[in-house]
Amino acid sequence: MLSKRLYEISRLIEKDKVVFDVGSDHGLLPCFLVKEGICPKAYAGDNKEGPLSRAKETIRKCHLEGKVIPVLGDGIENIADDVNIITICGMGFHTVKHILEGKDLSAYDYLVVQVNKDPDLLRQFISDNGYHIIDEIIVDDNFFYQVEIFDARGHNSYGAIEIKYGPCLLRKRDDDFIRYLKFLRKMHHDIYLRSKDQNRLKEIEEIDAILNNEY
Ligand SMILES: C[S@@+](CC[C@H](N)C(=O)[O-])C[C@H]1O[C@@H](n2cnc3c(N)ncnc32)[C@H](O)[C@@H]1O
Repeated sequence: MLSKRLYEISRLIEKDKVVFDVGSDHGLLPCFLVKEGICPKAYAGDNKEGPLSRAKETIRKCHLEGKVIPVLGDGIENIADDVNIITICGMGFHTVKHILEGKDLSAYDYLVVQVNKDPDLLRQFISDNGYHIIDEIIVDDNFFYQVEIFDARGHNSYGAIEIKYGPCLLRKRDDDFIRYLKFLRKMHHDIYLRSKDQNRLKEIEEIDAILNNEY
């Protein structure tokens, strides 16, 4: 059973592509993708034996031997040639940076990356490397998870407000994004009431401008 977060991520995977899931742990995402017929084949990668044995157990329970392949290795060091899409979910930004920094990603259709916090650092990394953000989603699953879909085939750089809030999220303004902005606004407001920190007022002003469609 996938969490809402992983389910929404699974919906970002184009049909008939081969996925390499980095830091797969339990292997739930690649097993779901193959079981549902979205992917003909997928890889569950992890750099530790313990998590990888959990992935092997999921593969066995789902009868997906030979279709979901466990791979031991740091990041994408042992990635196979037939991979189209890389997913990296549920990790910190610095681990993701370690995994992707200096790698040639141009062979992949796109990457789907969800860091647990500091999505702005991930967007800055994407921008600094000249990658192209194809789309972004916010998943409200008892926490606002931000997911970046990007490729290394286009070339782009993003401005400060786009880095902070997400260029596609700002453009699409969907319900989860608006709920997230209101949550952020309330958090800054509560802190301001306690601390009288003037910076919080600037954050609120910025969020209000976005809510009023002024960006
Ligand atoms: C918190 S789990 C996330 C599991 C799953 N991706 C999810 O989103 O629910 C993080 C996993 O990443 C693995 N990991 C951490 N650093 C890694 C690296 N450099 N290469 C491969 N796997 C790594 C850990 O061993 C762990 O199993």
